[in-house]
Amino acid sequence: MNKNSFLLIVMIAFLVSSEKTIAQDLNFNDAWLFYNDVAEGAEKPDFNDAKWRKLSLPHDWGIEGPFSNNNNARTGGLPSKGTGWYRKHFKMDKNAEGKLVHIEFEGAMYDAYVWVNGNFVGNRPYGYIGFEFEISKHLKFDGSENVVAVRLTPKDLSSRWYPGAGLYRSVWLKVNNPVHVEQWGAYITTPTVSKKLGVIQNETTIVNSTNLDAKVKVTQEYFSPDGKLAAKIDDEITVKANSKEVSGTWVNVKNPEIWDTENPNIYKAVTTVSKNGKVIDTYNSTFGFRSISFTTEGFFLNGKKVRFNGVCLHHDNGALGAAVYRRADERKLQIMKSMGVNAVRTSHNPPSREFLELCDELGLMVLDEAFDVWKEQKVENGYNVFFEEWAERDIKDMVKRDRNHPSVIMWSTGNEIHEQHNKKNGWKVAKMLHEYCKEIDPTRPTTLGMNNFEAPYKMNFAAQSDIAGINYKPTKYGYIHETYPQLALYGSETSSCTSSRGVYHLPIEKYQKHESNHVTSYDLVGPPWAYPPDVEFHFQEQNPNIMGEFIWTGFDYLGEPTPYGGRDNSTNGYWNADWPSRSSYFGAVDLCGFPKDRFYLYQSHWTTKPMIHLLPHWNWKGMEGEEIPVYCYTNVDEAELFVNGKSMGKRVKGKDFTELKVDFLRYEPKIFNSKYRLSWNVPYEPGTIKVVGYKDGKVVNEKTINTAGKPYQVKLSVDRKEIDADGTDLAYVTIRVEDKNGNLCPNADNLVKFSVKGEGNLIAVDNGDQTSLTSFQAPQRKAFSGMCLAILKSSKTSGKIELTAKSKSLKTDKIIVKTN
Ligand code: GAL
Repeated sequence: MNKNSFLLIVMIAFLVSSEKTIAQDLNFNDAWLFYNDVAEGAEKPDFNDAKWRKLSLPHDWGIEGPFSNNNNARTGGLPSKGTGWYRKHFKMDKNAEGKLVHIEFEGAMYDAYVWVNGNFVGNRPYGYIGFEFEISKHLKFDGSENVVAVRLTPKDLSSRWYPGAGLYRSVWLKVNNPVHVEQWGAYITTPTVSKKLGVIQNETTIVNSTNLDAKVKVTQEYFSPDGKLAAKIDDEITVKANSKEVSGTWVNVKNPEIWDTENPNIYKAVTTVSKNGKVIDTYNSTFGFRSISFTTEGFFLNGKKVRFNGVCLHHDNGALGAAVYRRADERKLQIMKSMGVNAVRTSHNPPSREFLELCDELGLMVLDEAFDVWKEQKVENGYNVFFEEWAERDIKDMVKRDRNHPSVIMWSTGNEIHEQHNKKNGWKVAKMLHEYCKEIDPTRPTTLGMNNFEAPYKMNFAAQSDIAGINYKPTKYGYIHETYPQLALYGSETSSCTSSRGVYHLPIEKYQKHESNHVTSYDLVGPPWAYPPDVEFHFQEQNPNIMGEFIWTGFDYLGEPTPYGGRDNSTNGYWNADWPSRSSYFGAVDLCGFPKDRFYLYQSHWTTKPMIHLLPHWNWKGMEGEEIPVYCYTNVDEAELFVNGKSMGKRVKGKDFTELKVDFLRYEPKIFNSKYRLSWNVPYEPGTIKVVGYKDGKVVNEKTINTAGKPYQVKLSVDRKEIDADGTDLAYVTIRVEDKNGNLCPNADNLVKFSVKGEGNLIAVDNGDQTSLTSFQAPQRKAFSGMCLAILKSSKTSGKIELTAKSKSLKTDKIIVKTN
């Protein structure tokens, strides 16, 4: 469903019934019934579902928990498996009779079977792909009740991370005239893009499901970002009975406003289909004018060389699980942008519609990825089970759905596919998937992420895609570029450094695991293929032809708690050896969205607005006089550290190095001298550490950390004071445990209890601790490294939401969020 389809449905409904809308629920997210087990006969309309739980979508039953050592820690220790049934009772308006009615699921996790009034209407296994079924002939339009029933059976050992479970994306009921624009039917490209002239090519597929040929007029209107009509063109076509036809038009736009990462200008297209002078369909799309080119010399956006400061992101939103909330994705992407990110890899599956709309709006380039596995399995019940039958359909649908997004710049057919070293057949599958993408969208290149070296390059596998993505081989960039000069290259996965926010283990050590089940934030620990971000920065600089990197990962995600549970990420089976570790340590940002130190290391390298960051915290009771390594991440020229007012000396960026212990595959020296961090070793004395940043000899910024006193108060702050009263908008409240002077207590783990009043509710809590087994839905949370998070959701009535946070012997705080 395209962004504005809801409006479209309303319009169609209006046109055909003139006074009343046809269907009661056009957005089909409300009033579902849910049962989390096998239910014999639940597809039948008269099945007794009176006791089933009432809920609205999006819904992910896995995130409701409980965490258990009986669930695979690799997929989050959560029950994202079993059988889930959803049923919905609804009535159709009489006026909808004779129309074409589809039910559209934007994604269902997974193996969806759908029945309408007891009639089986279709199955779709892959949980990340959108699909629709035509249901008109099974519906009753006489005012009596219809029932849609959906069965999902997500399996254990079907994923290498947390997949979620349920109807976790939106569902729509679409009522169309028999002659209408097909699902994802408008394909808009911009073959010419310059400051003076933009050309729009539009191929809109019209479906005619009647027994008579239909002569229709297809009008395309294009609106610039400020809403003004920029161009208009008409086309007349005849769509044969029971077939489809494409209306192809080209139109010029003078002085187009170009989409790029700084100015993400978005145009709107309105397609109107009319017959005998009467409008029979309207279809809205969005697109942007931008040109992309990938060469062995680098990547060019609108003719300008741009490097990918990219992140890999899994689809979950932490405590909300896989359930798609637009605001959760928006916040995630805004946080990434503030780190200096300009590109995202949707590892390793097609993202939600909302996610791509937001990337368009925020100016983030997207590498849209289809699969983590083809035919050769990684885990027992993975997509390999469905590949043969479904891969063509799934990848083509991904491309069809996403090909109007200016943000999308590459199609990735897979990640670390085992076929990459299958001499006989690997390259054939790669070629096949490449061709499927090209058939639906020849304007973007294909790519895939390869971790194997050097087989995929030697065996003709890498060359089957337009661009080669290299996972974790920075030391080989030069060699690959020289040996395979025809390949355009980038780091599709880099670093995989791990850490727990606010945790520092001294002395600094490159250990494999730590008894606390946490990982130090000195940013150097990771699995055998991993290395600190600095190493990648260095090799990217050494190899200017490499198009940039996508770090693993921007945010922590549920599941894959490396280095705990499993250090070899291809291992099948359970990862519970280091329980309760149950979520990833890889993020530059934790599961709550709170930046870890690494966030600032990337920011210092990827942004130019002066910033400065200091670590660790300054509460080291019992270590007085002992040396503490102090790191500074900054993008200014030099920095001077003061301890209780005494200068510890200046360090100059590019001149003073920090010695890092490293140990990763294909890199023999056990040391890496980083010019990307400044550091001092200072004897600990409680008080204040302060770093002052200089640019061109002048002070430009500073950062102070005080030794915090005893926890005294909880302090709340919210990301937005006003949100929409639409039943889905969210407010993220940060809770800090502070001392009397407002300093964060860095080791505080006080239990904070929440109560909520007004027009909304508390839907999730978290603290970013990868080992916590507290429910994400509990009305309380312990602080972790002094902080936790509460997520509020609006109701559909405007008013205000009041959140109160109390903790034993601490001063209470509350916050009010208005909902409009
Ligand atoms: C890669 C893999 C990712 C993730 C990562 C962790 O090899 O493609 O999905 O598992 O390792 O370092």
